[in-house]
Amino acid sequence: MLNDLTTQPPDKILELMQMFRADPRPVKIDLGVGVYKDATGHTPIMRAIKAAEQKWWESEDSKSYTALAGDAGFLDAMVALVLDDAVAREKVAACATPGGTGAVRQAFELAQMANPKARVFTSDPTWPNHLSILKHIGMEAVPYRYFDNDSGAVSFDGMLADLAAVETGDVVLLHGCCHNPTGANLTLPEWQAVIELMNAKGAIPMIDIAYQGFGDGLEEDAAGTRLVARSCPEVLIAASCSKNFGIYRERTGCTMVICQDQAQRDLAQANLAHLNRQTYSFPPDHGARLVTLVMNDDALRADWQAELEEVRLGMLALREQLAGELQRLTGSDRFGFIAQHRGMFSRLGLSPEVVKRLREEHAIYMVGDSRINVAGLNSETVPILAKAIVEVGG
Ligand code: LMR
Repeated sequence: MLNDLTTQPPDKILELMQMFRADPRPVKIDLGVGVYKDATGHTPIMRAIKAAEQKWWESEDSKSYTALAGDAGFLDAMVALVLDDAVAREKVAACATPGGTGAVRQAFELAQMANPKARVFTSDPTWPNHLSILKHIGMEAVPYRYFDNDSGAVSFDGMLADLAAVETGDVVLLHGCCHNPTGANLTLPEWQAVIELMNAKGAIPMIDIAYQGFGDGLEEDAAGTRLVARSCPEVLIAASCSKNFGIYRERTGCTMVICQDQAQRDLAQANLAHLNRQTYSFPPDHGARLVTLVMNDDALRADWQAELEEVRLGMLALREQLAGELQRLTGSDRFGFIAQHRGMFSRLGLSPEVVKRLREEHAIYMVGDSRINVAGLNSETVPILAKAIVEVGG
C-alpha cells in the first residue's frame, strides 16, 4: 500500500529553513521563515508570556480536557482583540485551533461544507501554504492580481478587475494586514471598494490575520478586518497568535465566523466544534491560556503591548535603513517601497537567479520569490545585504 504514495513537493519556506541550518559558513543571514528575531538573531519569549506562564504553572490544577471549540475565555479574548466592538459577540462563532494554519484550514473546510462548489479567490501571490491546503482538500483556487513587481505596490485596478469574476458563494481570501509575502497592503478606501464588490456579488470574505500589531499598530492593523466585519453579512476569519504573542511552537490560533443572526451562529458554532472533533478533537490549550491571561490582566496586557510596539518599531527602523542604504548605493528610489511596506515581509522583486546567487555567494537566505523577513536583519547586517544585492546585480 505505502508504495502507492506519491512524493509530495517540499514546502519552500520550510526547506529554506533547513538549508540555512545546514549551511556551515560562520557568517550567514537568515531572511527566510516568518519568525521574529531580535538584533542578536534570537527569538525571545515575550515578557508578559513568561509571566503568564509562571502564573499559570502555579494555578493550573488539572490537565483534563477543555471544550471542543477551545476555552471560552480564549475565544472571547480573540474576538475582542481582532474585532473589538465591530459586531455583537452573539453573532460570532469561534473555535481555537493549532496555530494560524489550523485556523485557515478550519475556515476553508467550513466554507467547503457549506458550499462544496465554493472557489477561493487568492491574491497573486499569497502565502504558498494557502494554495497547498486548498489543493489538499480539493477546493479550487482562483488567483487575482495583487502585486506590481516593478513598483512594489498593490496593483489595485488589476485586483478589482479580477475579483469581478467572483460568483455568489465564492470565497475571497484577503490578508488582514502585513501581506505575506509582499508587504504591500490595502488602504481603507481600497478595503471599502473590495467590500462593495463582494457584497454586490454575494461573495464571502475570508480574512487571514496572522501579523496583527506588526504593521501600523494593534488597532490600525485590524481596521480593514473590522470594516469587513461591520459591512458584510457573513465573514470567515483566521487569526494567529504565533507572531504577535511570540508563541510559535505552542500552536495557538482561532477561527471566527461572523453570522447574520444567533441561529446561524449556533449552527456555525456546532459545525466548528464538529470540525475540531474530526480533525484533532480538542485544540491545544497551553498557548491559548497564556494569551487569555495576558489579555485579561491590565499589567500583563500593557507590558505585552509595549513589547509588541518595540518589535514593530524595530522592524520599521530596519525598513528605513535598508531603503536608505539601497538608495545610497544604487542612486535610485527603486527600493523605496521597502519603507512603505508593512509587517515582517517585503518582496524585493529580484529574479530567482539573483536570489540563488545571494544564497550561494553571500550566505544570505531569502525565499525564492525574493521575500525577505525584515526581522532577520539588524543594523549591522542591513549594509551587508544592500551591498550584496548591488554586487549580484539585483
Ligand atoms: C511564513 O510565511 O514564513 C510563516 O507563516 C511561517 C510558515 O509556516 O510558513
